[in-house]
Amino acid sequence: KVVAVIMVGGPTKGTRFRPLSLNVPKPLFPLAGQPMVHHPISACKRIPNLVQIYLIGFYEEREFTLYVSSISNELKIPVRYLREDKPHGSAGGIYNFRDQIMDESPSHIFLLNCDVCSSFPLPEMLDAHKSYGGIGTILVSKVSAESASEFGELVADPTTNELLHYTEKPETFVSDRINCGVYIFTPDIFKAIQDVSSNRRDRANLRRVSSFEALQSATKSFPTDFVRLDQDILSPLAGKKQLYTYETLDFWEQIKTPGMSLKCSALYLAQFRHTSPHLLATGDGTKSATISGDVYIHPSAKVHPTAKIGPNASISANARIGPGVRLINCIILDDVEIKENAIVINSIVGWKSSIGRWSRVQSVGDYNAKLGITILGEAVNVEDEVVVINSIILPNKTLNVSVQEEIIL
Ligand code: GDD
Repeated sequence: KVVAVIMVGGPTKGTRFRPLSLNVPKPLFPLAGQPMVHHPISACKRIPNLVQIYLIGFYEEREFTLYVSSISNELKIPVRYLREDKPHGSAGGIYNFRDQIMDESPSHIFLLNCDVCSSFPLPEMLDAHKSYGGIGTILVSKVSAESASEFGELVADPTTNELLHYTEKPETFVSDRINCGVYIFTPDIFKAIQDVSSNRRDRANLRRVSSFEALQSATKSFPTDFVRLDQDILSPLAGKKQLYTYETLDFWEQIKTPGMSLKCSALYLAQFRHTSPHLLATGDGTKSATISGDVYIHPSAKVHPTAKIGPNASISANARIGPGVRLINCIILDDVEIKENAIVINSIVGWKSSIGRWSRVQSVGDYNAKLGITILGEAVNVEDEVVVINSIILPNKTLNVSVQEEIIL
């Protein structure tokens, strides 16, 4: 039997995702019309003998109740949210719930970060892991040398794929092969985490001998139950024939900022062509809008037949898209109204916002730049004939004049 665990974090994390994480926990923000966490969850469906999926986080339970029950029904695999009372770190989090995770005596445990965008080649990883042996296999991807320092950089043996060296976000370049935040472990991972935290406890006890040092260590070190998977487990186990790597050549991105959510939405829409073509709008029929490229339209959204949508557009529940509207590379969230002849390009339009007639909301479309994607927070009102370029507008603002390169607080 196999179980999967998805780390969803909590409200004190994901702050770079503001203002979009002000309304909804980041893991539930829609990419290609589906909550972010839905993509790794549906990838888990392909794992043979999967009996249970756990989401571990420190958000309030109620934030996930609805989603967890609907996805359990849809997949016919039980999905449960396990709430930590405080952050325990990525390894401490799973250790905290080891009894539940081991409940069905799984032989293997998948562990996935929720804020990565990938095709999640999980069955392939499982096969690779079985052929390597050891306690775990890490999904690896090649990135540009300039961006590698944002991730865990690693070196693997080119023939055996053994993990030889691991450094988390190093200041000087080590390797362009990085940790994708997707792992498969045997239950021995719990022993490895336990060793780290009991080592820490021993050291803390030793230090207590001298009260001065105890004071120092209290400010310097983590609590004994806070264990990070990367620094505390992967680094020390590298080169010990315990950890192996599986490199994906398919797409992989990390989703820390609103701009990246727009890029990842496009990647998932493109994937739908193979995995879920029924979710893509076709534009067939005389009453339908003109559709170009990959587009998702929620069944409850109303799109005028004279509108032109796409490529890469996701339109969420109850949105109303008026006559002559043009949408390119954008995410339109629930209950948005876009009035006639408005244009939205390279932008994210927040819940309940409204865009007036002949208005333009657009950006250069640079996913990594601070103002590279225009974002309207919840309930922003852009009046008629107003132009908004390369800007971030916080919730509940009304714009009656045009703005460019601005953050409106
Ligand atoms: N439940 C819970 N509790 N989840 C947590 C906690 C915690 O205490 N801390 C982090 N997470 C979740 C986050 O929500 C995220 O999904 C994942 O664990 C990793 O978050 P971080 O530990 O903040 O690391 P990171 O995202 O900056 O980098 C990690 O992932 C990269 C790939 O995306 C590292 O493992 C990098 O090496 C890796 O390249």
